[in-house]
Amino acid sequence: MTAPLSPVRIVDHPLVRHHLTELRNEETVPVAFRRHVRQLASLLAYEATQDLAERPVEINTPLTGMAGSVLSSTVGLVPILRAGLGMVEPVLDLLPDAQVWHLGLYRDEETARPVRYYSKLPPGQPVDVALILDPMLATGGSANAALATLKAWGVPQVKLLAIIAAQAGIDAVIAAHPETAVHVCAVDAELNDRKFIVPGLGDAGDRTFNTLG
Ligand code: PRP
Repeated sequence: MTAPLSPVRIVDHPLVRHHLTELRNEETVPVAFRRHVRQLASLLAYEATQDLAERPVEINTPLTGMAGSVLSSTVGLVPILRAGLGMVEPVLDLLPDAQVWHLGLYRDEETARPVRYYSKLPPGQPVDVALILDPMLATGGSANAALATLKAWGVPQVKLLAIIAAQAGIDAVIAAHPETAVHVCAVDAELNDRKFIVPGLGDAGDRTFNTLG
């Protein structure tokens, strides 16, 4: 019997390990941190979009006619504010016709529970495929809140793209939304007592936006 396909896909590639190491390094300054986030987001998106629907088109090259193929589904990028913003531009470069729907969620510092503060999803007309963009999947609370919001909107297929995930966060997402494909660059073993991923990379939002204080 064939084992069921794991809903968690880890991008196993030397470029990922290189940029991830730079990203984790505490000496990496915000301008470089943002660049490595962009590079990793592109690599994640390449993997996560391998099953997007296509439709055939006839085109003419300068030499002859030929059958080509273009994307046929409507795709929504759903960055989780703030840190997910750093992943939008590189994924939009790959999917220039994608819609971008921002969701505002932050973790309460005391409880580590997600607090919703922004969502403008229009009633009806959901996208065919939504890609949630967030560099960090820690407890999974924010991702699960985003997934619940997108399900309520009526999105048939949602994929979660996270650069670093804790195993606990992956487990929480799969328990609540087992149909969700989770694409990550690395899975870290632990959460510390403040629910930060260890070894992790610190606070992705603060490192992206230079707000460490
Ligand atoms: C971080 C991160 C995720 C969330 C992950 O955001 O970018 O959104 O925490 O944690 P969870 O899996 O336990 O929910 P944060 O709350 O620090 O907000 P920020 O991006 O505005 O800094």
